[in-house]
Formats: sequence, structure tokens, C-alpha cells
Amino acid sequence: MDERNIDIITEDIKLDGDKLLELKNNNEQFFIMKGRRKTYHILTYGCQMNEHDSEKISGMLTSIGYEETDDEKSADLVIFNTCLIRENAELKVFGKLGEVKGLKRNKPDMLVAVCGCMMQKQEIREKLLKKFSFVDIIFGTNTIHELPLLIYNVEINKRKSMGIVDNTESIYENMPKQRKYKYKALVNITYGCNNFCTYCVVPYVRGREKSREPNEIIDEIKTLAEDGCKEVTLLGQNVNSYGSNLDKRVTFAELLYEINKIEGIERIRFMTSHPKDLTDDLIKAIKECDKVCNHVHLPVQSGSNDVLNRMNRKYTREHYLNLVEKLKTAVPDIAITTDIIVGFPGETEEDFLDTIDIVKKVEYDSAFTFLYSIREGTKAAKMENQVPDNVKHERFERLLEVLYPIILDKNKQCIGKVFPVLVESFENGKLTGRTEHFRLVHFNGSKDLIGKIVNVKITNVKTFHTEGEIVE
Ligand code: SAH
Ligand code: SF4
Ligand code: F3S
Repeated sequence: MDERNIDIITEDIKLDGDKLLELKNNNEQFFIMKGRRKTYHILTYGCQMNEHDSEKISGMLTSIGYEETDDEKSADLVIFNTCLIRENAELKVFGKLGEVKGLKRNKPDMLVAVCGCMMQKQEIREKLLKKFSFVDIIFGTNTIHELPLLIYNVEINKRKSMGIVDNTESIYENMPKQRKYKYKALVNITYGCNNFCTYCVVPYVRGREKSREPNEIIDEIKTLAEDGCKEVTLLGQNVNSYGSNLDKRVTFAELLYEINKIEGIERIRFMTSHPKDLTDDLIKAIKECDKVCNHVHLPVQSGSNDVLNRMNRKYTREHYLNLVEKLKTAVPDIAITTDIIVGFPGETEEDFLDTIDIVKKVEYDSAFTFLYSIREGTKAAKMENQVPDNVKHERFERLLEVLYPIILDKNKQCIGKVFPVLVESFENGKLTGRTEHFRLVHFNGSKDLIGKIVNVKITNVKTFHTEGEIVE
């Protein structure tokens, strides 16, 4: 496994080279001849990093004359933006590629591109090319800006294209982005990860952590605000270590105070907070910045010190519980959500009971729970005493039996209370939105309210969502 360094390149992407002009002209010709634009459909797997990358891919494609379509069947270009965090994620991609193979047989002109985290690993690229030789384009997480040229190669030069940078990676910042929502936006603040948790592939596929310059982030958010955006989610694998590589050091807490000043932005969220780097200054910033939501996603992974140590998480359960205590003291209504892995190699019944215990002590508002999945190339994959599948599953069930009633109980405590909700969508005759604590709420109302913040009284709750009604 190589250790990659990321350079952040802030100059604008050039979309006016000769080849690109030729490609754009061809797409215009296509439009004139067929009366429609060429269409693309992106299948996005994985986390918000990938979701945001898909917005960049959309932006690049729109700038060369493509239009988005709702499903792969009607698309001239299908893009798989892949994830390999767990085996399941990988299997889903391969399964769907199998489906698209049949589609391509009937529609040979349709282009298929595969990108994202899976493509950062050579073994997987090789497997893909062998098993799914119909794939036309492959590119990586840091070569999104090359996509138009890769399309050019396939369309004009009639050859498969690959755009992967394996050694020093450069991330181009200023590429066009076509954001999925107008009123909420994802904003990268760091790329990559330095933490090497022993179960995790992210540092290997996304390279070393690099922070964006604060002024770049602020400018991006100001532009978003001018465009009507109300909520930003700051993205990084560990936002708490933001700024460590900057020439002029700026901490994450300092960055929050700056973003909090931006007019028009009403809510600030961030993902993900690593417990080892959550400082008192950050807790103070969450308390003092009125726009920073009272919600922290603080992945605990395990409640056992022995497991945490072997996971290389660099904190203890005592440290974690102390953080939770400090957060709850500073911001009494704070919502705390988490990620938990069950069945890490060597996890004993006692270790597992420590996880159950921490879940009870913290009383999470919500949690993502995962069965440990062996990821080739990571340290944990080579650890002896992997936990047998049946034990993993049995513990997983027992964890949910403890976790779900806690989440439901937390939701029940909201009944009768009124919360500002940012309305996100209209589905099945109901509006859907989230409270600042990230609670999902369904309620009656008109579609015009999408993008607005309205007061909603919670009337009924389930484990994964709540129901309410708009109040003045
Ligand atoms: N950077 C974030 C997490 C990114 S991955 C953080 O440190 O919190 C999202 C979650 O996937 C992790 O928190 C972890 O719970 C889970 N995960 C990662 N690798 C995994 C593996 N090999 N098996 C099971 N779950 C895993
Ligand atoms: Fe993976 Fe750990 Fe980095 Fe999160 S902090 S991305 S879990 S290595
Ligand atoms: Fe995210 Fe999956 Fe990559 S979780 S960073 S898309 S491996």
C-alpha cells in the first residue's frame, strides 16, 4: 500500500481546450440532429464525500452539454461512483454492473464509466477490466476533472480510457459543480485521512489528509449563501483535525466562528468528528455559534478499550464518555449520533458488553451499526482470531435490541415540542425535513415550503422518523 500525498490545486479547470471544444461541438451537433441532449445517469454509492464528488461529475458533464436523466436505461452515459468501505458496498457495485452489462448489449453506443474509491485500488481495477470488459472509462477520486477528456478519447479516438493518478495526487478544487439541492450543500474542508484505523480502507484510497485554505471555504460558502443556500455540511473524514497542514494554522473551531458570520447561512453541520481530536475550543464553538447545529456525529466504534486500542482509534472509553459529558453540559439539548462496528477481530463477549454499556450510558439519538467487514490491505484483515459470522450476527441483533429502544425513547421525548425544520422534499403526499438535531420529520404542507425553515410540533414518533404538524 502506498502512502499518497494530496496537492490541492485551486486554479480553474480549463474547459476550453481544442479537444473539449470538439467534444462540445459534437454534443451540440447531436442536439441539433436528435432534438435532445446526450444524457447521463450517476449511481452513487458510499458516503457524502462520494455524493459531493457526484455533484462535481454532474457539473463537468453539464459544462460539456450533457443533461441528467433519472435512470440508467435512458442514459447515453452511465457512471458508477463506487465505495469499498465494506464488502457489501463492493458487492452492490458488481451486482449492478452485471445488470448494466445486459443493457449495454442492447445499446452498444451507451458509455459506461466507473470511478470512485474502488477504482483507487489496482487489484479492483484489474478485476473490473477482466470481468466487465464492456466498461469504457475508469477514473479515480482525484481525476474527476479529466472526465471530459476521457469521454473524448472514447468518442473520438474510439478507445477505452483510464484516468487514475496513483502517486502524488492532485485534487482540482474549482471545477463546476451541479448541486443536488439549492438550499443545502456539501462543502469539502479536508480531503483524505491520516488516521489509519486498522479496519479502514479510506486512507489507502483517498490519500493523506489535506485541508483547504479557509478563505477558499469561506468564499465557496458565501457564494452558496448568495445563491439561496441555507444549510452547509462541512465534510472531512476527521473535521476536528482541520488546519493541521496549513501554513497559517487555523483550527476547526476558528473556521466555525468564521462560517457562522456568513449572512444567509442558517445552519452549519459537519461530518465526521473524531473523538481523539474533539477539543474544548470546539465544544465552545458549538455552544457559541448560533448557526452550528446542536448535533455531533461522534463515531465510537467500540466501547472496549482493548478493541479501541487494536482499532488504533487513539482514545479510551473513559475519554469518550468524558467528551459526551462535556458536550451535554455545554449544550444540554445536543444530539449525539455514532457509528458502531460489531465483531472486530478478537472482540470477546466482554468487549461486546462494554459496547452495549457505552450505548446505554451515552443514550444515542441515532446510530449506524456495522458488522465488521474484512478489507484487504488493512492491518485488521491480517489479525488472527477473526470473529465467526454467526457470533457477529448474534451480537449485532443484541446491540439493536438495546439501541433501538433508546433511540425511540429519545424521539418520544420530542412529542409535544416544537422544532424548526428545514423542509427538504415532498414524498408520498407529505413534506419531509430535519430538525437541527438531525431528526427526520414527516408532516402535511404544501410543496412551496421546500427549502424553507418552518416550525413543526412533533405529534407521533417511530424509531427512524417522527411525525408532526406545522405551527405558527
Ligand atoms: N471518517 C469517519 C468514518 C468513515 S467510514 C470516522 O472516522 O468516523 C464510516 C464508518 O464505516 C466508520 O465510522 C465505521 O464505523 C464503518 N467502517 C469502516 N470500515 C469498516 C469495516 N471494515 N467494517 C465495518 N465497518 C466499517
Ligand atoms: Fe477510516 Fe479512521 Fe480515517 Fe475514519 S478516521 S476514515 S474510520 S481511517
Ligand atoms: Fe466514502 Fe466509501 Fe470512499 S465511505 S470515502 S465512498 S470508500
